[in-house]
Amino acid sequence: MPGGIKTDVRNYQLYINGEWTDSASKKTFPVYDPSTEEVIAQVPDAGPEDVNRAVAAAKAAFDDGPWATTTAQERGRVLFRLANKIRENIPMLAEMEARNTGKPIVEAEYDITDVATCFEYYGGLATKILGFVNPVPDNAVSLTMKEPMGVAGQIIPWNYPLAMAAWKLAPAIAAGCTMVLKPAEQTPMTALEVAKWFNEIGLPPGVVNVITGFGETCGAPLVQHPDVNKIAFTGSAAVGKIIVKQAADTVKRVTLELGGKSPNIFFADADFEAAIDGALFGVFVNQGEVCSAGSRILVQKSIYKKFVEAMTEKAKKVKLGAPLDRDTKMGPLVSKDQYDRVREYQEIGKLEAKLAFGGGRPKDFAKGYYVEPTIFYDVDNSSRIAREEIFGPVASVIPFEDEKDAIKIANDSPYGLAAAVWTRDIFKAFRAVKALRVGIVWVNHMQPTYVEAPWGGYKQSGFGRELGPWGIEEYLETKQVHINLNEAPIGWY
Ligand code: NAI
Ligand code: MG
Repeated sequence: MPGGIKTDVRNYQLYINGEWTDSASKKTFPVYDPSTEEVIAQVPDAGPEDVNRAVAAAKAAFDDGPWATTTAQERGRVLFRLANKIRENIPMLAEMEARNTGKPIVEAEYDITDVATCFEYYGGLATKILGFVNPVPDNAVSLTMKEPMGVAGQIIPWNYPLAMAAWKLAPAIAAGCTMVLKPAEQTPMTALEVAKWFNEIGLPPGVVNVITGFGETCGAPLVQHPDVNKIAFTGSAAVGKIIVKQAADTVKRVTLELGGKSPNIFFADADFEAAIDGALFGVFVNQGEVCSAGSRILVQKSIYKKFVEAMTEKAKKVKLGAPLDRDTKMGPLVSKDQYDRVREYQEIGKLEAKLAFGGGRPKDFAKGYYVEPTIFYDVDNSSRIAREEIFGPVASVIPFEDEKDAIKIANDSPYGLAAAVWTRDIFKAFRAVKALRVGIVWVNHMQPTYVEAPWGGYKQSGFGRELGPWGIEEYLETKQVHINLNEAPIGWY
């Protein structure tokens, strides 16, 4: 086995207050390799008592621990040391991520490299949190100070487990917050591995706590906890709505990244080869388990027929295989649940539209949650496969007449995370950039994501922004300070 991971089952504990500990109930649950359907780890099934313990540790670390007085420079160095550890361990972490999620190893290596870059970015940003002097009309000094928000609860999905954790941990550490991280129940392994280095890199006990558990028994108590000041969530729209409601009772700050139904728009003047490639990559990368998946493929009518044919030909060549095989382009879906869900949408699609390719389970796999890359065409934008997030390799190809028509269809969605537009006409491209009601627009590409640039959606794709300087703002409060320079009484009475 490359990278040295043994195939025996790994046992993990919770990381609370700098120590490894079982859950209060002592219960654990299994973690799977979705390509073999075998158990590869057991992790604690944390419940409300464990959440209380973790939040208490985070609160104590924020209020009274050494973290409260660390300098920005020290926080930056902690992040650089963590980045180095991750870079040194890319093969181990990437292999673990690929085995646990089913994603191709090549993509996992890319993800873990980006994780290190994310910690480096916020390591640098820690010392660039700036205040203001406000020009008030008085003999006074008016200041704006930025301060850490307090205890953050961070709830992570399973599609990019360590990357989504890094997007939340890195800015929160840089800001000086303390936190409780809950990985997705399907994919908790890499976050727990990284937690093994927290002490060594100089994170004081309680600053970052990692607890594993299910949404309703571990995530929900974290959202409801009165000592948690902020919740950062990436996941389903359904859970995002629950979180907003539950966070209301304690007026928590909330950021949500809830995925979408992102349009990938192809005008007739686009470079045809690049377009076909971009359409396939946009929707099939990471088995389509991508919040910004280009799952609605809008194609101008004059190239529509040729486009669907070319996509279909190329889709036949997408290599499904074992996650650790370096030639694999698509691995299995993450879990039995997700497999069932995507299989159901494949059947719904057959009733709603025409099937160009795929539509089922590939024949060559006896085991594993594999599904075929699937292309539906002549999809109506009002159908379920055009409106609902499938989160699997299922493309809905929709024809459009002209620019106006394309924008109308693209914006006709409850979601607004991302969009891409392919054209050689700079006027058309920029008009589309302005007209699209989404948080991210790519022109002549789809999916490139950088820690330096903001990530987040419009409409029901959520609110708040991760990454870049925007990401750290979500962990900072703004304090106004007024310093009176008049020594005399104000003369009120
Ligand atoms: P989910 O939204 O249930 O899970 C995401 C995270 O939220 C997990 O850590 C889970 O334990 C936690 N969670 C679940 N219920 C919770 C609650 N009541 N309170 C607090 N935390 C809770 O997503 P699931 O069920 O795994 O996937 C279903 C669909 O969600 C997918 O098919 C996909 O459409 C979407 N999804 C979107 C993601 C994105 O990147 N925006 C990531 C994962 C899923
Ligand atoms: Mg769920």
